Amino acid sequence: MGTPVRRSAISNSKIRRANETMRLIITTSVGIMFGFYMGTSFPVISLTKVNLPSNVFPSIDLTYIEEKYSGLSTQALLNVWSSLRGWKSISDKFSNTKIWVPTNPRGAERLPPGIIVAESDMYTRRKWGLPGEDLLIKPRYLITFTVGYDQKNNIDAAVKKLTENFTVMLFHYDGRASEWDEFEWSKRAIHVSARKQTKWWYAKRFLHPGIVAPYDYIFIWDEDLGVENFDPEEYIKLVKKHGLDISQPALSPESGMTWEMTRRRNDTEVHKDTQERPGWCTDPLLPPCAAFVEIMAPVFSRNAWRCVWHMIQNDLVHGWGLDFALRKCVEPAHDKIGVVDSQCIVHQTVPSLGNQGQAENGRAPWEGVRERCRNEWNMFRDRLDMAEKAYFVAMGINLPNSTAH
Ligand SMILES: *[C@@H]1O[C@H](CO)[C@@H](O)[C@H](O)[C@H]1NC(C)=O
Ligand SMILES: *[C@@H]1O[C@H](CO)[C@@H](O)[C@H](O)[C@H]1NC(C)=O
Ligand SMILES: *[C@@H]1O[C@H](CO)[C@@H](O)[C@H](O)[C@H]1NC(C)=O
Repeated sequence: MGTPVRRSAISNSKIRRANETMRLIITTSVGIMFGFYMGTSFPVISLTKVNLPSNVFPSIDLTYIEEKYSGLSTQALLNVWSSLRGWKSISDKFSNTKIWVPTNPRGAERLPPGIIVAESDMYTRRKWGLPGEDLLIKPRYLITFTVGYDQKNNIDAAVKKLTENFTVMLFHYDGRASEWDEFEWSKRAIHVSARKQTKWWYAKRFLHPGIVAPYDYIFIWDEDLGVENFDPEEYIKLVKKHGLDISQPALSPESGMTWEMTRRRNDTEVHKDTQERPGWCTDPLLPPCAAFVEIMAPVFSRNAWRCVWHMIQNDLVHGWGLDFALRKCVEPAHDKIGVVDSQCIVHQTVPSLGNQGQAENGRAPWEGVRERCRNEWNMFRDRLDMAEKAYFVAMGINLPNSTAH
C-alpha cells in the first residue's frame, strides 16, 4: 500500500545525506526564513550555535529544501545571515526566563501564545511576493470527492458547478491522480493519493478539524452523484436559512433509495423528518425518521465536523452506522439535521467500492467488502454503546435496565 502524499515536490524526493556544511546552511536558511516571517521576536537560536546536533530538524527532508532554494546562491543566503547576525532577539535578553503557558495547545506550552498557529487551511500559496497578498480569495467551503479516474466525467460536471468559494480536494483511491490534469480545475485542486482506501479513511486522516478550520461548510461526497439539479450556492443559502449543521441534498426519485428520509419532496425547501415503514422508528425524532442523513453526500458545518471527526474510528473505514450516530454531535439533532429538497442530486450507485475487495474462499470481492461493512456497523454501535455506558457509570448516573438502540 502506498504512503499517502500530497502531490507536490516532496513525493519524488529521496532523503540524501548532506555534509555538515550543507546542514549548517540549511539550518541557517530555515532560521532566517522564520525570522523574516515573524518580523521580530522569533528566537533565532539556530543562528548562534554552529555545533548543532545533527537532528535539529529531524523531520525536514533535505532534498526538498535543496530543491526549494536551488535558485538562491549560497552567497545570497550568507549575506542575509550576516546582516542578521548582530541582532539580539527578545529571548536572548530574557534568557533565564522560561515560558510556560498552560492554556496553550497541549505540547506547545513553551511557546509565547502570540506565535502559535493552531489551525491551518487548504489554501495554496505562491512562492514569491508578500505572504499577506498571496490569497485573492479565501474559499469558505471545502468539497472533497473520493474518486477513481473512471468517474472523471461525473466529477468534472460537479466541479464545474462550484464557484470560487469552494476549495476542491480529491482523494484518489486508484493512484491515477496526475491524469486529472486534463481538467483545468484540477491544477488548482488539492490531490491526495492513497490506493484502495475509503472516504472515511481519507476524511479521518486529511480533514482534521484544525486543518479545515477556515471552512464554514465541508462537503464529503461520493463520486457517483449526479448534480444536474444542484446549485451549491443556493444549497448553502438554504442550509443557513434552516439552521442545518448536518445536511444532504435530497435524492431524486431515479436514485437507488434506501431510506425514506432522503427521498426528495416536491413541496418543501427542506425537511427534517419523515414517515418510515411501520415499525422502523422507535421514536419519531430519532433515525431513520429524523436526525438523520446518509453518508454518501453529507455536508457539515464547521462545528458539527469538529465533533463528527472525533467520532470516526481509524479502523472502521466504511463508516457504516456513522449516519445513525451523527445526531450525537448536534443539539437538538432533530432540528439541526435535515435534507434539502429544492436542491437535489441523483445517486447513481456505482459499485466501485465492491470491486476493490479481494476474492477469498471462492467468494466474489464485493462479498467480503459487504461483510466487513456489516461487521463494522455492529462494531461501531457496540463501541459507542460501551463508551456511553462507561461515561454514565463513571458519572454515577443510573442506567435504565434496557438500553435499546
Ligand atoms: C461567494 O460567497 C459570497 C458570500 O456568501 C457570496 O456573496 C458570493 O455571491 C459567492 N460567490 C458566488 C460566485 O456565488
Ligand atoms: C408532488 O408529489 C406528489 C406525491 O409524491 C405528487 O402527487 C404530485 O403530483 C407532485 N407534484 C408535482 C408538481 O410534481
Ligand atoms: C430493572 O432492574 C430492577 C432491579 O435490578 C428490577 O427490579 C426491574 O424490574 C428492572 N426493570 C425492567 C424494566 O427490567
